[in-house]
Amino acid sequence: MQFSYSNPTNIYFGQSQIAAITRAIPSDSKVLVIYGGGSIKKNGVYDQVANALSDHQWQEFSGVEPNPSVETLNKAVEIAKKDNITYLLAVGGGSVIDGTKYVAAASHYEGDGWDILTGKHKVKSAIPLGAVLTLPATGSESNKGAVVTKKSTQDKLSFLSPHVQPKFAVLDPDAMKTLPQRQLINGLVDAWVHVCEQYITKPAEGMVQDGFAEAILKNLKTLGEDFANHDNNAWRANLMWNANQALNGLIGAGVPQDWATHMIGHELTALYGVDHARSLAIIQPSLLRNQIEFKRAKLEQMGQNVFELAQGPDLAERTIDQIESFYHNLQVATQLTEHGTDKPAAVQAVLNQLQTHNMVTLGENQSITLKKIDEILQSAIA
Ligand code: NZQ
Ligand code: ZN
Repeated sequence: MQFSYSNPTNIYFGQSQIAAITRAIPSDSKVLVIYGGGSIKKNGVYDQVANALSDHQWQEFSGVEPNPSVETLNKAVEIAKKDNITYLLAVGGGSVIDGTKYVAAASHYEGDGWDILTGKHKVKSAIPLGAVLTLPATGSESNKGAVVTKKSTQDKLSFLSPHVQPKFAVLDPDAMKTLPQRQLINGLVDAWVHVCEQYITKPAEGMVQDGFAEAILKNLKTLGEDFANHDNNAWRANLMWNANQALNGLIGAGVPQDWATHMIGHELTALYGVDHARSLAIIQPSLLRNQIEFKRAKLEQMGQNVFELAQGPDLAERTIDQIESFYHNLQVATQLTEHGTDKPAAVQAVLNQLQTHNMVTLGENQSITLKKIDEILQSAIA
């Protein structure tokens, strides 16, 4: 264990906390409020934000799509530069928050903002931003990461920078009341896989990291088993806080991390439009079975501590079966069908994209080579 850790995002958690943005954003700011396709107009969130900003100078940019595109976001960058915006407020799910992070960084860069995603430009500063979360899943509201898509080339890439970590995030579970079941399930699955990416690796004797990861996994399992009763305050609040804690840097500090499921999943979203969380459920069981010898010890630990399985030589195998059942019980598929019927073409298309993005040695051991990814895709694609 060797790390430096800080999570500087100020969290305002609970009902009616949207009002807190009045104080959280300096009163002399020129604010650009960024949101998506309009869900915030149907659940009262937009009105609460407008109310809280009534003494601020502000304007808005809407239309950030799920899996936000650089094509759309560059229009917001133009506005931010032209109107000398000094504060950004993202109101929405992971896509809006990630998109706002891109706008924040690209507005402080004279070149093509896409350079931030390819790594050609390293972010040195950004417009400060805050977030009002309406869909718990990604953890983006209090982390340094963002994922942006270039539609024209079907490239879905990510960047990390401390400069785009939100200064504050409002987590009001009431904002979730209008979420369709599909998005609630996506939130459960995405948060679950975030914990797995930082936990199902190799033993590192991180007692706090392992213990906290197992607590979040058990909580998400309970929320999934209780999905029929999701329409209540405690269920919503607990999903919101668990999803935040799953990817705010804490459980991954100083321990090995994987992220191969995410890197391969991103290509399924870019090529076939699969929801982010669902792309993960498609890849992960096949990947775990492929890499079982590297991950056996942690799978056994998870089997005992999360699923309460009995000891035995096939404990790791049974743990993967339980993970797959967790998805199936939520009606989430673990094989790709969105590609149509030409499986060889789909496998090749994903492999080609991964090669283009230089994602050819993945995982905590760098053991997920292109050959292994091919095997994983043969089982993950129907
Ligand atoms: O656009 P609106 O109208 O707001 O509708 C959205 C969107 O259609 C809707 N929605 C959000 N809140 C709602 C609501 N509908 C009704 N009521 C509400 N309260 O939900 C739809 C999906 O939203 P989106 O933001 O795309 O979902 P999510 O939060 O799952 O974000 C997915 C994106 O985050 C990236 C993913 O790759 C994907 O692009 N990720 C970001 C990460 C990060 N920054 O750390 C990590 C993740 O692993 C992930 O890769
Ligand atoms: Zn994710």
